[in-house]
Formats: sequence, C-alpha cells, structure tokens
Amino acid sequence: MTTTDDDPLGARAAKELRRDATTSGARKRAPARIVAMANQKGGVGKTTTTINLGAALVERGSRVLLVDMDPQGSLGVGLGVEPHSRETTIYNLLMQEEGVEVDDAIVETSMPDLHLLPANIDLAAAELLLVQEVAREQALARVLERVRYRYDRVLIDCPPSLGLLTINGLTAADGVIVPLECEYFALRGMSLLMQTLDRVRARLNPELELEGIVATMFDGRTLHAQEVLARVRDAFGDAVFETTVNKTIRFAEAPVAGEPILTYATRSRGSDAYRALAKEVEAREPSRELARS
Ligand SMILES: Nc1ncnc2c1ncn2[C@@H]1O[C@H](COP(=O)(O)OP(=O)(O)OP(=O)(O)O)[C@@H](O)[C@H]1O
Ligand SMILES: [Mg+2]
Repeated sequence: MTTTDDDPLGARAAKELRRDATTSGARKRAPARIVAMANQKGGVGKTTTTINLGAALVERGSRVLLVDMDPQGSLGVGLGVEPHSRETTIYNLLMQEEGVEVDDAIVETSMPDLHLLPANIDLAAAELLLVQEVAREQALARVLERVRYRYDRVLIDCPPSLGLLTINGLTAADGVIVPLECEYFALRGMSLLMQTLDRVRARLNPELELEGIVATMFDGRTLHAQEVLARVRDAFGDAVFETTVNKTIRFAEAPVAGEPILTYATRSRGSDAYRALAKEVEAREPSRELARS
C-alpha cells in the first residue's frame, strides 16, 4: 500500500486503517482471507455459494464481507438489497471516483456481521473502462486493501466469464473456490479455468491457491449425478471438498425471501451442507486459525 499524497487511494486506505485500529478495541485483527468464487460456466451456484458460505462463516463467528463482481447484481438481490437503485456500488470504487469512500457502498444484510459490497449493471461499463487503465487487473485488490482489516473473510462472487472482472477477483484473492454443477458437462471448461488460474499466478498473483472445488446441485438419487461426482473426484482428487451441496428447491426460494438459506430454512439439508463446507474451508487454513487464537 502506498501513502503518498499523489496517491489519494493509498492515503485514504491509511486513514481507514488508522480508524479501524482505534475503533476495534483490544482485538487485533489479521487481514481477511479473500476467496473468489469462480467458474465461467453460468448457473453453477457461484452466487448461492457466496451467500450461504458467507452466512455459515458468520454463524461460526467470522465477520464477512461479500463482494459482487457480477453486473447482474444477483448477490444483492439474493440478500434482499435492491442493487439497481443504489447510487454507490463497487463500480464507483473500482473507478476510483473522487470523494467516494468504501463505506458509501457497503450495506448491511439481514444477518449481523454479514456485509455486502453490491454491484449493478453499471459494473458492465467498468469492464470496458478499466481496459484503458494502468494496473487494470489490480483495481479490486486496491479497493479491498482498504477494508481487509475490518473482516475475517471476504468472499467475491465472480461473473460467468473469464473477462477482466473475474481476473480482478482472482488477482485480489488469496484462494479460489470453484462451484461445479453435477451434470454431464461439468468438467467441460475446467481446463480453461485451471489454465486461467495458472496465468494469473504467473503474471499477477503468485500466491493464489485453489482452495477447493465444491460439487453443487447434486441429486444423489440419480446414478448420473453419482457418476459425474466420481469423475470430478478422479480428475481433481483432494481438491474436491468432501461436502456436496444437494439439489433442493429451497435454494431458489431463499433469494426470493432476500436472505441466506441458513436463516430462511435454518434446519434444512442445504443449510447443513454450507455449514459443513464452512468447516472444511476453515480447516484448510489451519495457520490462520492459529494466528487468530
Ligand atoms: N443446490 C442447489 N439446488 C437447487 N438449486 C440451486 C442450488 N444452488 C443454486 N441453485 C439455483 O440455481 C440457479 C443458479 O444458481 P446461482 O445463481 O447461484 O449460480 P451462478 O453460478 O451464480 O449463476 P451465474 O453464472 O448466472 O452468476 C439459481 O436459481 C439458484 O437458486
Ligand atoms: Mg451468480
């Protein structure tokens, strides 16, 4: 982080850090672990996983920020925030607009300690405008540097493409979670995604880890889904989380209610799946848990 006067972003970040240091009391925070949900295939459960993994991590005691990098704005919609009427969103922060603070964009959700940095259709323009910028891949990383010390985890919901918005997500992240729908073409596109992760590691973010692959929309009653899951485990071994998320209508209902399934149907199998996933996600980073205790 830079703090020179000709770098207002850096100066602002320093100011926010100082404020956090004075308001967070005795508890010293490690910077949030930032995890991107990515898969260029549409409708595989990226947004659902962002919301519900986030909610499950909050239940386990974390402070979590969810970041929407998809101009569709579904993350906000799923959390009961109407992103299309919001004046300040991730777009204004990515574009480094004068006088716009991160707090102008962050919104609270129905769950305490689960915060949202929403996006709306404006973000589609950022993808085009950023192309002309220097360090265009680091725009999101710069924004998150300013709030990283306020949260334990930041989850980024990427759009269904491998364009600049997803690259920004991967560049800002410490880890990636890949939601994979258990259907026939599940593995198609995975090699391109893995190549993209390699390219991001080589050029932009050497520390980027594949946190894991989570099988979603699993229908255990069909032989077909079981075969797909077996193939995914063959191909990716330990990278695949033990937890699979079953197919259930509750996931379609919860966004309509504007809340995570964890609070909408707290005792459902879907909620329990994301609770189990949150446990696994935490277990995959033991050093961090030690650092916090
Ligand atoms: N486990 C599940 N069982 C049943 N339906 C699900 C499940 N997970 C997600 N869905 C539903 O599938 C649809 C797509 O899910 P979601 O929006 O999370 O995917 P996405 O990868 O974010 O999509 P996009 O690529 O468009 O951003 C939604 O209607 C969602 O409610
Ligand atoms: Mg989505």
